[in-house]
Amino acid sequence: MVKNHAFALFNVDLKKQIHTNALPKHIAIIMDGNGRWAKQKGMLRAFGHENGTKAVRQVVEGCAELGVENLTLYAFSTENWNRPKIEVQTLMKLLVSSLKKEISTLQKNNIKLATIGNSEALPEKVYKELQDVIEKTKDNNRMCLTLALSYGSREEILNTVKKISLKVKNNIISPEKIDESVINKHLYTQNLPDVDLLIRTSGEQRISNFLLWQIAYAELYFTNVLWPDFTKHHLYEAIIDYQKRERRFGKTSEQIN
Ligand code: FPP
Repeated sequence: MVKNHAFALFNVDLKKQIHTNALPKHIAIIMDGNGRWAKQKGMLRAFGHENGTKAVRQVVEGCAELGVENLTLYAFSTENWNRPKIEVQTLMKLLVSSLKKEISTLQKNNIKLATIGNSEALPEKVYKELQDVIEKTKDNNRMCLTLALSYGSREEILNTVKKISLKVKNNIISPEKIDESVINKHLYTQNLPDVDLLIRTSGEQRISNFLLWQIAYAELYFTNVLWPDFTKHHLYEAIIDYQKRERRFGKTSEQIN
């Protein structure tokens, strides 16, 4: 109890160090380490994923409370389909149960749910549940929570090239008119700003086919914390670190100061 109280005070202290006028507009997270977390405890990987949902709650709540406008979570990659069938099923079940459980919290907190990725590849039950929550929360405007599901960045870019090529073929757009904004409009993330801060947990320092176009100027933050242990405290640490960095977007320090 005393320990919890001290921790809460420590969190308040850390939160106060965040400049709310310079928050990242878009935070993206590669939630990694569920399997290792479970293994350390002598448990099955599913136990890690279950506890990973608690960390999801922490970051959604933490971002919304601070005023971060967009949070994107890498929940299931195109490559994750290659995992053992039982693990894929567990993840899909967890997704459905989390959506059912959290819909009221999303509504209460004015949070909109969106997805990026090939959602049609998802089992029908998951797809339907997602569409239901997306529809019910579509007018919420405090924060947009985007789940990357069956998502792969190269696939997204490939689809974008195909969509634009078709428009060129049908004389809807001329090749000279293709610029960055045209590409942005054809990506899954068409309604989102570029990523400002990309966090990856579990000590791995890779991007793993996540938002390759959108992280062009993102600040990268890697932490050894395994995803199920990630709390608001760690989120605050990442944002404080981000706010200490000088974002130059290719310019010199003198030009931006
Ligand atoms: C990576 O850990 C995590 C995943 C592939 C899935 C993330 C899913 C959740 C946190 C739960 C459900 C999500 C929502 C949005 C309700 P890993 O299995 O690769 O861990 P390892 O690298 O230690 O094996």
